[in-house]
Amino acid sequence: KKKSTPDPSDPSDPCKGCREVIDKVIERYSKTWRKQENNYQQFSSQLSSQCHGLDRAIITQANTPVGSKIVYDGDKKKTLKVTPELFSTFAKEHPFPNKTWDTCAVVGNGGILTNSSCGDIIDSAQFVIRCNLPPLGKGYEKHVGTKTDIVTANPSIFLEKYGALMGRRRPFVESLHSYGKSRLLLPAFSYGHNTPVCMRAVYSIEDFESPIQPIFFNPEYLQSLALFWRSRGLRAVRLSTGIIMASIALEHCANVHLYGFWPFGNHPHGLHALTNHYYDDRQTKTKFHSMPAEFDLLLQLHSQGVLRLHLGDCQ
Ligand code: CDP
Repeated sequence: KKKSTPDPSDPSDPCKGCREVIDKVIERYSKTWRKQENNYQQFSSQLSSQCHGLDRAIITQANTPVGSKIVYDGDKKKTLKVTPELFSTFAKEHPFPNKTWDTCAVVGNGGILTNSSCGDIIDSAQFVIRCNLPPLGKGYEKHVGTKTDIVTANPSIFLEKYGALMGRRRPFVESLHSYGKSRLLLPAFSYGHNTPVCMRAVYSIEDFESPIQPIFFNPEYLQSLALFWRSRGLRAVRLSTGIIMASIALEHCANVHLYGFWPFGNHPHGLHALTNHYYDDRQTKTKFHSMPAEFDLLLQLHSQGVLRLHLGDCQ
């Protein structure tokens, strides 16, 4: 029998007193959502004037010429001079210039997507952004979809799953098939140790002629975005990939929809326990990220009709 009122003192209660927090979120969330064009215009132009994502989010041959100095955003003492060889790995121009997209789906990896049936609606967006090479097959497609225009990769995945790309590269390159011809967005210049492993990923993709196209986050943009969110009260050491991609989407897309953003251990409706990701239960590093604080800011934007968060099942 399903319990309707979880009891914090009951050890078998999956919610462990989370109800109050979740109830408050749901109260803020459940008012009928409507896009507020003025709020959207205001927010996305503030982002554009402070961060210039439209031409600075990604490193290109236009914004980062040979001889220029890249300053790492995670380690500001570290810089790198752009050699012709490095330059040749940069995108020629910004891969998605100007405000091109009508509808974007940004897919976070939260366990809230498990059994959500959100796959079709996610795939119906004109532009789909995913984070950290998430699995798309294996029965997940019904819940998360398969369409991918950009996918990010944190170098920790290369270290943990692909032996830092020091040995055979084929398993890594084959794992990219599910993302087709999308862009693979790499934080190659956030920390010094990211650069060599990201370059091995780029060369593996080229050597195996994989259709995916590697591109790099511009650390200058990430730095300005961190300041932007800090001025709105976010005190975390690092922004999570999800809020970075939502910010990029807000400059590039008229209608931004977020799925898989739910940094709590229980489902907002059933209150049943959730895994941290829809595909595993690896925990977020709370030392660096503050996802509940980010979530609060995203929920504010939802309430203001700037973007739309999706927390329920889709069918
Ligand atoms: O790279 P990072 O560890 O930040 O992210 P991830 O765990 O691969 O998930 C991608 C994004 O989804 C995160 O950056 C968060 O913005 C979002 N997420 C969430 O809101 N709730 C979760 N339970 C897990 C992820």
